[in-house]
Amino acid sequence: MNDPAEAGNVAAQPTPFERIGGEAKVRAMVDRFYDLMDLDPAFVVLRAAHPTTLEGSRDKLFWFLCGWLGGPQHYTDRFGHPMLRARHLPFSIGVKERDQWLACMRQAMVETEIDPALAQRLGESFAGTADWMRNRAGA
Ligand code: HEM
Repeated sequence: MNDPAEAGNVAAQPTPFERIGGEAKVRAMVDRFYDLMDLDPAFVVLRAAHPTTLEGSRDKLFWFLCGWLGGPQHYTDRFGHPMLRARHLPFSIGVKERDQWLACMRQAMVETEIDPALAQRLGESFAGTADWMRNRAGA
């Protein structure tokens, strides 16, 4: 990075995917996210919005986040455009579900020791996406 030839070369900047620690770290974060959702009563409303088994959800969120963070496009390779809002329409998502999703993900990032500055930035991006997913007025 100190090489002057690299200065201003956007491609030389590490992606969030590289900064986070690659696939193993994204997988650990996603697994912790769903473990917390399953186990912690603080996330009971969020858990109730999900199917009985979370195994499919784990893989899909992991594949999606790899691409979203600038890594391999596992999700779009399998399913095409994410169309996230449309794919969430079958589930009732209000303020409670949004806030529990964000709190659950923030806790998962802390517990898997994501760099705090990066976690802060990702938390802000997640907040925008989660709010956009709301499809029910009120709490
Ligand atoms: C706002 C609160 C949210 C709730 C309540 C919610 C809930 C759900 C549920 C119930 C599913 C289906 C799981 C399954 O079929 O096993 C799902 C799928 C998914 N969610 Fe969310 N979600 C939320 C926010 C987000 C956010 C912020 C992201 C991305 C940053 C995201 C990414 C995904 C992805 C990639 C899938 C898989 C879609 C598919 O291919 O079917 N979700 N979500």
